[in-house]
Amino acid sequence: MAKTRWYKDAIIYQIYPRSFCDSNGDGIGDIRGIISKLDYLKELGINCVWLSPCYKSPNDDNGYDISNYRDIMDEFGTLEDWQEMIDGMHARGIRLIMDLVVNHTSDEHEWFKQARSSKDNPYRDYYIWHKGKGKDGRKPPNNWTSRFTGSAWEYDEKTGEFYLHLFSKKQPDLNWDNPKVRQEVIDICNYWFEKGVDGFRCDVITYISKDKNFPDGKFNPAICGDEHFVIGPHYHEYIHELNEKSWSLYDSLTVGEAQGITIDNAFDAVDESREELDCVFTFEHQTQVDSFLTTVPKKFSLVKWKKIFSSWQSLPETCWNSLYIENHDYPRSLPRYGKLKYRVKVAKMLAISINFLRGTPYIYQGQEIGMTNFANLKRKDYKDIVSIKIYDTVKKFLPVFLPIVKWALNKKARDHARAPMQWNSEPNAGFTTGKPWMAVNPNYVDINVEQAMEDKNGIWHFYKQLNEFRKGNEIIRNGTYKQYYPKDRNVWMYEREYEGKKYVVIASYTDKEVQFVVPQELKGKESKLVMSNYADCVKTLSDVTLRPYEAMVYAL
Ligand code: GLC
Ligand code: CA
Repeated sequence: MAKTRWYKDAIIYQIYPRSFCDSNGDGIGDIRGIISKLDYLKELGINCVWLSPCYKSPNDDNGYDISNYRDIMDEFGTLEDWQEMIDGMHARGIRLIMDLVVNHTSDEHEWFKQARSSKDNPYRDYYIWHKGKGKDGRKPPNNWTSRFTGSAWEYDEKTGEFYLHLFSKKQPDLNWDNPKVRQEVIDICNYWFEKGVDGFRCDVITYISKDKNFPDGKFNPAICGDEHFVIGPHYHEYIHELNEKSWSLYDSLTVGEAQGITIDNAFDAVDESREELDCVFTFEHQTQVDSFLTTVPKKFSLVKWKKIFSSWQSLPETCWNSLYIENHDYPRSLPRYGKLKYRVKVAKMLAISINFLRGTPYIYQGQEIGMTNFANLKRKDYKDIVSIKIYDTVKKFLPVFLPIVKWALNKKARDHARAPMQWNSEPNAGFTTGKPWMAVNPNYVDINVEQAMEDKNGIWHFYKQLNEFRKGNEIIRNGTYKQYYPKDRNVWMYEREYEGKKYVVIASYTDKEVQFVVPQELKGKESKLVMSNYADCVKTLSDVTLRPYEAMVYAL
């Protein structure tokens, strides 16, 4: 089937189901909760949802550990609920992409139960097993580390071998070199396509192919072994096969979560001619601030940030981008990129600077109302396996570092973004009538959807306006990109141009006043303000003192 590439006109809203909306008072978000909010999503003006995993799972990593790919997690509802949800989405012109988590399964998946039962079980080779080192064979086969801390190998008593798990030990890695495994993945994709899904967000997809000589990795105390499995030996071949036997048979979007894909190898990963993924989430702009894989947050550099976005914008027309600043793996964008004192201004400034770029924008639940991090996250509030592991390991082995770890986690724990959605100012932010599965951010009294929808000058209406503005807009969809003042440490200025028409975007990333000077080549051109985050911005492109986080877009 010829692909329409509908995703080029999509605005995608990410739902983290556990924390979105609870319909039955058990404190856990669920599918009927999502159904109850479909009109809300429609009104916001999004036209596609990415749903984080909702499959059967023992929830070691909140659904990113799947025990049955063809059914819905009990806490979230049933397949019938799911069908009603997707039908409701489609009836409203909203597409659905699902999370495809196939680098690993849960250790409670039937395949793994079989695999670990004996060395000659037919499912043994669905996973990656290896003899241990040392006299008793109890030392891990190599020094690779799990992305969730500790060795990536777990010894399995029953058969006396280790299995590989690049995430938690309850997430054993699948052996993609086994053609049966690849066929299973193809079948899973087609199963959901036949039920009507419009595509997949492919979890840690660049990890699927490992160097089977299992060499030690370069020394790195936090993440070791990457060079032997990130975009490993058969990565491109296997993705192409999936594309051929599943993804290309449907009018789909596949977006890969793509550690290791940088501007240097992006073309090979996403160019249309490659017939692999349609686009990826690069980590480049995120890791320049920090990443959930390394512990200590870094200082934000606008110059680097601009350089990264600008280079991705300059890929050939046959490559497509994903535009995101938030998801369930990072703390909130506020206050990472701007001071909280200017919360509304910063949120709108970020929305402008990202949404005028070429690519598909993503809004992570709560981003549209400017939800923030917790002021002070305590050990008892951590629900994320990563936060808990880091905290408890340091406490046990290196207690002197505990204060640093507390500080770092408070800045960057994944828990911040996973707090329940703040719907209104009723108890528990209207997320549940019961006891929420994790702490609600106390600031819900001031920051919530109900309040945001009433405030015509607030963040919510700004996103709605942007979403409307983007729809069918050819300059944003197809225009070329050009950056001005790349060395400026405070202001991001760029231009998009299509068939002689231009948008010029100016965004200040500082709380200080800064002087902006119109570049020579744009001086004296006719221009009109089309969007801004202050009510009284200059109406035409002019030299001006920018106020804190001031952002505007001019049409030329
Ligand atoms: C991805 C997911 C993350 C999960 C990990 C393991 O990075 O986004 O939430 O923990 O994969 O599946
Ligand atoms: Ca529930």
